[in-house]
Parts: sequence; structure tokens; C-alpha cells
Amino acid sequence: MGEILGVGLSHYPGLGVKDETMAAALMKTLKDPGLPDEYKNPENWPPQMRAEWGTDNGKTAAAKHRTDLLEQFKKARAAIDEFKPDFVLIWGDDQYENFKEDCIPAFCVLAYEKHEAQPFKHMGFLGTNVWGDPEDKVFSYQGHKAAGKYLASSLIEQGFDVAYAYKPLHHGLGHAFLNAAMYMDYDRKAGWNYPILPIQINDYGRRVIAQKGGLPDLSKPVAEGDLDPPSPMPWRCFDLGAATARAFKNSPWRVALVASSSWSHAFLTAKNHWIYPDVEADKRLSDALAAGDYQVWRDTTLESIEESGQQELMNWFPLAGAMDELGRKPDEHALIQTYIFNSSKCFAIFRP
Ligand SMILES: [Fe+2]
Repeated sequence: MGEILGVGLSHYPGLGVKDETMAAALMKTLKDPGLPDEYKNPENWPPQMRAEWGTDNGKTAAAKHRTDLLEQFKKARAAIDEFKPDFVLIWGDDQYENFKEDCIPAFCVLAYEKHEAQPFKHMGFLGTNVWGDPEDKVFSYQGHKAAGKYLASSLIEQGFDVAYAYKPLHHGLGHAFLNAAMYMDYDRKAGWNYPILPIQINDYGRRVIAQKGGLPDLSKPVAEGDLDPPSPMPWRCFDLGAATARAFKNSPWRVALVASSSWSHAFLTAKNHWIYPDVEADKRLSDALAAGDYQVWRDTTLESIEESGQQELMNWFPLAGAMDELGRKPDEHALIQTYIFNSSKCFAIFRP
């Protein structure tokens, strides 16, 4: 019989850069000529957002945000070390990294032998990395092909026709997976020796190619007709997680199931003019998770996910489905809310 640990965390790119540039996504949006002038003026922002921005463009708030996030990453890492998994499965999105115009699977089991990535070659507007690593630094992690083949087989047999791959297409390892491992070894002391089994979910759906899974260009909004087909439905991601838990319960392995994403993203939240996330919507789902009220999750519509800029939260639906299947509530849970650092970040640990 297999054993399962559940963990939810963030892969927030801002944690990989210095305090001065942690609010880089907001700074970029504020410079967008397509953003109406009234939203560029902090006087028109919510009071909590103004307070975080302060008098130093969020630098002081960034140091606190980093401390709060790292405390949670340390807890997640400790839970994984204590559990001693054979491998770590990570549900993550692909933001026009490995999957592009030639193929966008709804779900893909990345059953590689090994993973290699050079994340600092693609920093873009985020600037330089906080570790002072050279741009061409290579990160290498072991994969788990046997577990990937086993999972793809079991999911297909259970009626989930997932894609699978034995090697990357365009990109070694997307940041949803890589950052999760990097941030659980943030101080570079213990290293990261657990094999990783990444499961890609097409979270960005209608905007995965149309917006290249990133910040919008507000002066050139994507026309309705240019949007891509949608992501898989939240309930389907939830059910996929439940099927994954069933698969690994009947396996020989100790498996850590990790959901990797921040929640509502400012740059996807049109109703907040793309400058701050939907903190209320995140709070509702976070409260339901803490209470183990998974029906609230399964009943969540894709429409409400898109309206609240919660596309990346789709990585957490399989975790919620898996924990529902196992009859577990979180043993530890934290929601770290912010207005200026793009997204709320939730963390959760579900011990066996
Ligand atoms: Fe992401």
C-alpha cells in the first residue's frame, strides 16, 4: 500500500529576485500605456495596497513578504523530509514554456528520466536573481519515469485520457515545478534530492497562446475571437486529483503530492484593473479548504476562476480532490494576502 503526503505551496517568481524588484509585475503594469491614468495614482488604490506600497515602492513590504513566505516553505520542506517520499509529484501550469502552438495538452504527465533547467536565462522584467547565480546556471533534478508511466496508465484506465511525455518539447522544466524545488532549498543548505514527477495542467486556457501565459499588453487587448479554447474544468482537475490519490494508494511508493501556484493573480484580474488580485475570492476558497469543505471547491466554475484571475489555482484543485478522496483536512494552513505582490499565496500540509 502506498502512503501519501499532501502539500500546497507557491512558485511566486518574485521570491527569486531582490526586494527592490519584488513588485516588478505591478511596476510593469503601472507603466503600461493602456492602463487608465486613474489607476496609476496610489490615491485611487485600496488602503491596504497604499500601505504596502509605502514610500519606497514596496521595498519594505517585500522584505516582510519574503520572510512570511520562507517560513511556510521551510514548513513544507520539513514535512516532506519527515515523510521521506520516494518522489515528489508536482501539479503545475505551463506558461507558454514547454507547450506552445504545436501542442497544448489539457494534462500531461512529464515522465522524464531527469529534468534540467536554466531559469535565470528567462528572467525578463524581473531582473537579476537573489542568489547572485550566473545567468547560465543549470539546475538538474532526477525524474521518475516508472511512476509517471504507472500514473498515466492508471489515470487512462480510470477514464482520464491524459497525455504523457518522456522528454521535453520546448523547455526543460517550467517554473511552476522548478521554483517549487528551488524555494524548498532556498538557503541552499540541504540541496534537493527527491525525484520530481511534474504533471502539467493547462491553467492558462483561453490565454495560454493568446497572451503567452503572462502579463497582458493593455494597449493591445486580446480580442474575444483570438482567445484560445478553455482550460480543463475545475471539477475535472478535482476529480483527476482524486483518481491520482486512488492510483498511488495502490502503489508501492511513498508519494508527496504537491500543488504549486499562487492564487488570484493581479495581472489576470480585469475587474481590479490588473493591479491587485481578488483577495476576497481567495479568502472564500481558503476558508473552505481549511474547513475541509471540498464541495465548495468542486462546485467552483471556470467562469468564476477566470473572473477572479485564479487560473493558476487550477493546480490546487487536484490536491483538494486527492485530500477529499483520502478524507483529510489540512493539518497546517496559511493564506498570505497582498495587494502589491501580484498574488495571494496559500500554503497547506495534509499529513498521512
Ligand atoms: Fe505560474
